[in-house]
Amino acid sequence: MIFFYFWFVVVVEKMVTRRVDLRSDTVTKPTESMRAAMASAEVDDDVLGYDPTALLLETEMAKIMGKEAALFVPSGTMGNLIAVLVHCEVRGSEVILGDTCHINIFENGGISTIGGVHSRQIKNNDDGTIDIDLIEAAIRDPRGELMFPTTTLICLENSHANSGGRCLSVEYTDRVGEVAKKHGLKLHIDGARIFNASVALGVPVDRLVEAADSVSVCLSKGIGAPVGSVIVGSKNFIAKAKRLRKTLGGGMRQIGILCAAALVALKENVGKLESDHKKTRLLADGLHEIKGLKINPGSVETNIIFIDIVDGSRTTTEKIIKYLEERGILLMRDKPSRLRVVLHHQISASDVQYTLSCFQQAVQIENGN
Ligand SMILES: Cc1ncc(COP(=O)(O)O)c(C=O)c1O
Repeated sequence: MIFFYFWFVVVVEKMVTRRVDLRSDTVTKPTESMRAAMASAEVDDDVLGYDPTALLLETEMAKIMGKEAALFVPSGTMGNLIAVLVHCEVRGSEVILGDTCHINIFENGGISTIGGVHSRQIKNNDDGTIDIDLIEAAIRDPRGELMFPTTTLICLENSHANSGGRCLSVEYTDRVGEVAKKHGLKLHIDGARIFNASVALGVPVDRLVEAADSVSVCLSKGIGAPVGSVIVGSKNFIAKAKRLRKTLGGGMRQIGILCAAALVALKENVGKLESDHKKTRLLADGLHEIKGLKINPGSVETNIIFIDIVDGSRTTTEKIIKYLEERGILLMRDKPSRLRVVLHHQISASDVQYTLSCFQQAVQIENGN
């Protein structure tokens, strides 16, 4: 009996030596060159403003994004929170945003609980846009200021994670920017995956965010740095953001160690995004062929795929997750009948083939087709 137990453990261990981590693009491990850069990074106290590697990253990011200044922050959530709070500094301010955007769903309602900012949530379309006439209609009439909150800011998200990583075009972004300007509002873009959007659309990233007053850009998602985000905007915006970062506990001393890894990510990994998107497309097309699964191939524009279980199928998301996990493939459930996979630079073409064949087996076992 004990022999069989050990035999079983050895077999299972062998099965899971391969690891294909598709839970998110936040799961990447720092590469050797990142670790080397971190080990030799020149650092100083960033709260005092002297960390040379942080200053280098911030200067570089401001340049890439076409804005006056930049600030390293510990996370995308803090980046968005700071940006909204800077734009909405007057009590009673209101922000217009999409109902399925990350700020609205996944950031603990921080803009209201911490910032006291009122949110006006407008329906996000399947492609991540919000209808421009709905945005315009949601802007409060200043003549009602005795009762109404004051519309101050519009937030967009590009790429839009909850829509499966779909991209907002530069034309759309410009039009929202025009509406914002016309009404004296600011425009913030949650650009956690803005490099993915820029590559997928074939539009330079500074052009893509030209209409925005501020952008938060995650370093630790598609481009694979271990930690951090950067917010960009005018010098005045960043000066205010710096004070708020300190208020929120985001002043972090020798951050050059983290910024060094981010500089490597910028140099080495932005260029890999196109290949990540191609692999995502390959995986999506393959999954689409599997009976029992449903994908909207048109919705796969960057590195995220939503996989629905077809009604009437005998398999479930739980069963698929378990089957794949036993084979070293990790993924997440988005809804009871929907799975989400996210690709990144540490997923190879052979990982994609392996994942496809394991998916095929997982579904076949249940449905027998
Ligand atoms: C679109 C989007 N914005 C913001 C964030 C927040 O980033 P962080 O996890 O670094 O707080 C995420 C995280 O997944 C995201 O997907």
